[in-house]
Amino acid sequence: MTDDTSNKPRGLRKSLTSYGDNGFSLFLRKAFIKGAGYTDSALDRPVIGIVNTGSAYNPCHGNAPQLIEAVKRGVMLAGGLPMDFPTISIAESFSQPTSMYLRNLMSIDTEEMIRAQPMDAVVLIGGCDKTVPAQLMGAASAGIPSIQLITGSMLTGAHRGERVGACTDCRRYWGRFRAEEINADEIAAVNNQLVASVGTCSVMGTASTMACIAEALGMTVPGGASPPAVTSDRMRIAELTGAQAVKMAHEQLTIDKILTAEALENAMRVLLAIGGSTNGIVHLTAIAGRMGYEVDLKALDRMGRETPVLVDLKPSGAHYMEDFHKAGGMASLLRELKPLLNLDALTVTGRTLGEEIDAAGPAFAQDVVRPFDRPVYPQGGIAVLEGNLAPGGAIIKQSAADARLMEHEGRAVVFENGADLAARIDADDLDVTPDDILVLKNIGPKGAPGMPEAGYIPIPRKLAVQGVKDIVRISDGRMSGTAFGTIVLHVTPESAIGGPLAHVRNGDRIRLSVSKRELSLLISDEELAARAQASPVTEPSADRGYRKLFYDTVTQADKGVDFDFLRAARMRGVTPRG
Ligand code: FES
Repeated sequence: MTDDTSNKPRGLRKSLTSYGDNGFSLFLRKAFIKGAGYTDSALDRPVIGIVNTGSAYNPCHGNAPQLIEAVKRGVMLAGGLPMDFPTISIAESFSQPTSMYLRNLMSIDTEEMIRAQPMDAVVLIGGCDKTVPAQLMGAASAGIPSIQLITGSMLTGAHRGERVGACTDCRRYWGRFRAEEINADEIAAVNNQLVASVGTCSVMGTASTMACIAEALGMTVPGGASPPAVTSDRMRIAELTGAQAVKMAHEQLTIDKILTAEALENAMRVLLAIGGSTNGIVHLTAIAGRMGYEVDLKALDRMGRETPVLVDLKPSGAHYMEDFHKAGGMASLLRELKPLLNLDALTVTGRTLGEEIDAAGPAFAQDVVRPFDRPVYPQGGIAVLEGNLAPGGAIIKQSAADARLMEHEGRAVVFENGADLAARIDADDLDVTPDDILVLKNIGPKGAPGMPEAGYIPIPRKLAVQGVKDIVRISDGRMSGTAFGTIVLHVTPESAIGGPLAHVRNGDRIRLSVSKRELSLLISDEELAARAQASPVTEPSADRGYRKLFYDTVTQADKGVDFDFLRAARMRGVTPRG
């Protein structure tokens, strides 16, 4: 099969193995695939690759077999030939040292398997936090028609009459256990209830954030973000996705026509309006970098000032993903955000975002997506901070922070790294008060390595048992999108490469002003320079393997923590504009 408008090879004729004779390569390929029982007529159809990220280690993708079956049905109904293939699958709680360490590896795997194998379009099945970013990054670089299928959220459970879901409630109950408010029997009972089915975390954590972002980017079929994993709605989305992939193959609707500057802006707008995970910024920055766009954090912050949080989901609000779905999902949100969106941005359907919003029908009464005049939070969920402690920027999820602490000056209580934190945070003799600021170093991109979600520093036990629920915390790491607190993250440059954070000492004064977007270490420039000279930082390194590649090429948070050689060869612009 060849395109009507070009002689580019299609279907099985694409990506031929190099034997020096293309005719022989195709002959051999067909001979081998016929060993699986295919006919020539099947092999002449457009080939739709389906990325299978099912894994026993990844319950967030536990419905992958059913999804693949439904995608295949959609592909075949539309006249295509479905071919599923495996790539790396990453689950948050089964990835050491942290899933983020493996995100770029998964993106390379995705990109290269799309390139290496013959396919006219690809369906990316992802869900758990790092999988959707990795797939969008890889597909962006591979460049063929691509469509994202989200695995979908888990159902919520119940503990003693209270509805619970991962993972905001995991943290809340664990905090209560640490504070000795509940005993070992009760925390064990809670453990059975937090994850009531396969699927991704049920709150507006990173997985749900990336699902909403994927739809806002135009990379899913309309309504693709919200159906829970085990519902018939999710299976229908999968079938539609398969059919749409065939259409995209015929129309050569390549990913560069969808992942435009306009689409990236829409995604940032949505990230702010859903009170999304701070990880969403890092991932969007990496995706934008693959398409040749730098993210202007100051412009993003300005965008945040005019974008209220409208989606009332935990951790910023009260509901869960299944409620968001019943409230209309992304259609309800996008309709509300319409005046702020680039409506001409193209989606995988071949129609624009504006056309899809109009096609979704009228609004109806519900209490999960708020109207503009009754927001959950008056500004976007995420604020960008600057100052001598973070010359390259830092962020805070203000919608999930304690309003009392957002203008705060305090004494630094410093932990040098994760091990130091683990050893001392619960010590009875830790010199700490509720007015202090906890500082954790060396959990940035190179520091840990992989920028783990350790920025959610636990409340020291001696304060927790006194009833302290929040304290200002600062690090160069990330935190789970399901976490709550006055927590400054992504301090750039990180301490492991000699950023100012490396030189904070116990007892230093630090000022956080979210209203002024300021994060300052209250010492002079001369003192900071003298400390840097007296204690120079040696960057971490490795002798071989993936870890060496990681240390040698990983970028900072403001470049998406992508490997430098994976970003677009030529940058073409900045997003968001102005
Ligand atoms: Fe997979 Fe939360 S652990 S989505």
